[in-house]
Amino acid sequence: MLRTKKLAKPLRDPVTFAKKLLGWTPHEAQEQILRDRAKNLTVAAGRRFGKSECMAVSAIHYAIAHPGSIQFIIAPTYDQAQIIFDTIVRLLSRSPLIQLVDKVVYTPFPKLRFLTGSIIHARSADKPQNLRGHKAHRIILDEAGYIKDEAVTNVIEPMLADYDGDLIKIGTPAGRNHFYDSFIRGLERNEYYSSYQFPSWVNPHISREYIERKKKEYGENSIRFRTEYMAEFIDDQNAVFPWRSIQACIEEDIELLEGRTHAKQRFVFGVDVAKYLDYTVIIGIDIAQEPAKLIYFDRFQRLPWGEIARRIEDIHARFSPQAIVVDSTGAGDPLLEMVQHIARGITITGGTAITQQGNITKVPKTILVERLAAAIDNRKVIFPNIPELINELKYFEYVRTSSGSLKMEAHEGMHDDCVMALALAVFGAFHEPSLPDIDEWPFF
Ligand SMILES: Nc1ncnc2c1ncn2[C@@H]1O[C@H](COP(=O)(O)OP(=O)(O)OP(=O)(O)O)[C@@H](O)[C@H]1O
Ligand SMILES: [Mg+2]
Repeated sequence: MLRTKKLAKPLRDPVTFAKKLLGWTPHEAQEQILRDRAKNLTVAAGRRFGKSECMAVSAIHYAIAHPGSIQFIIAPTYDQAQIIFDTIVRLLSRSPLIQLVDKVVYTPFPKLRFLTGSIIHARSADKPQNLRGHKAHRIILDEAGYIKDEAVTNVIEPMLADYDGDLIKIGTPAGRNHFYDSFIRGLERNEYYSSYQFPSWVNPHISREYIERKKKEYGENSIRFRTEYMAEFIDDQNAVFPWRSIQACIEEDIELLEGRTHAKQRFVFGVDVAKYLDYTVIIGIDIAQEPAKLIYFDRFQRLPWGEIARRIEDIHARFSPQAIVVDSTGAGDPLLEMVQHIARGITITGGTAITQQGNITKVPKTILVERLAAAIDNRKVIFPNIPELINELKYFEYVRTSSGSLKMEAHEGMHDDCVMALALAVFGAFHEPSLPDIDEWPFF
């Protein structure tokens, strides 16, 4: 008989569990997924990454580690659900854990019960009504991108309500739906939301030649290759900053500075001030040469005004910049009061024209963002690979409002503080803030 004591150690770590008890060694990316305990875990991975096998292992580990637990594996079609279920049965049949299996049934739906009371169900999402009435501690959606939004919100998510259960979505991207929304929400990674993106070729068990052939066949930049093998959500029709343009502005080897290092440098800083739970972001660019270069990045949460003002004063002393532009909209107002001897205030409006009121310039958000978009499109500003900045740029969108007009904002669940701080810095590079066009920028 399998002793629970013998199980205690591998149970703590799903990777050890997989190796020791299932004879299955995850590749590095699968290790990351198995060890992530976020309540909402989202994984966008290319075809043949090893998504289904990894989920089979994850489900077994959870079932053994949580006696009495109920799990559902849900795939778009019955066949796909059956494949994972068969993998689970196959992995268990060659493992000492088989002694813990109570029974396996296939009709009306596949279901595996352990002697510990844990149950794993495999279902399809094509008839979501069959799922109503069930509750679960954990649900795994395989090929989540192909499961309809309505099935997820109306039927699948409520199944988790009784136990405040966990939801894992894994799959190859398929448009901008619930899978995409969860993916974005998890980019910041905390205990509630976490997400990953992996191309197919991180799976060492599939043929590299095959992938290379597909790359040639479809074209490296084709929508098909980028979606299926690179796991990108590439429908960027709504993107304010197209991915190609962002990519062209990333320079890995730009070094961030702690202060001025050369007399010729001309620094401009943008400060986007936190409202509610957002972050305050300070970005500095050096505009002495074209393209302008991001040389300072700071992002923080929940600091008192006095402390933020102290940081701005410190920047002023260390960099002696041309300009520091502070967002003084609403919450930013008290901060501007503290730093107005060294900084310029900008109030972001929903209007259409730039106006001046005392020492404050009122700037429509569209102008601020469009100037940044033009700078990025024309590679007038370059930056190192700062994940928070890059992700925010990537998922900053045009959104059509109910009245039909276009707004620009972060995708739901995503912040825009880095984008706005960079936009303020770029805007601050103007001598004359009311100049309308990028061609008239003094430095660019
Ligand atoms: N850790 C591993 N060790 C050995 N082989 C693995 C591992 N992970 C995946 N594989 C193998 O890689 C192949 C793809 O795995 P799997 O079917 O789980 O991928 P998938 O991402 O679900 O693919 P698809 O996109 O077709 O659904 C299979 O042959 C599988 O046996
Ligand atoms: Mg699969």
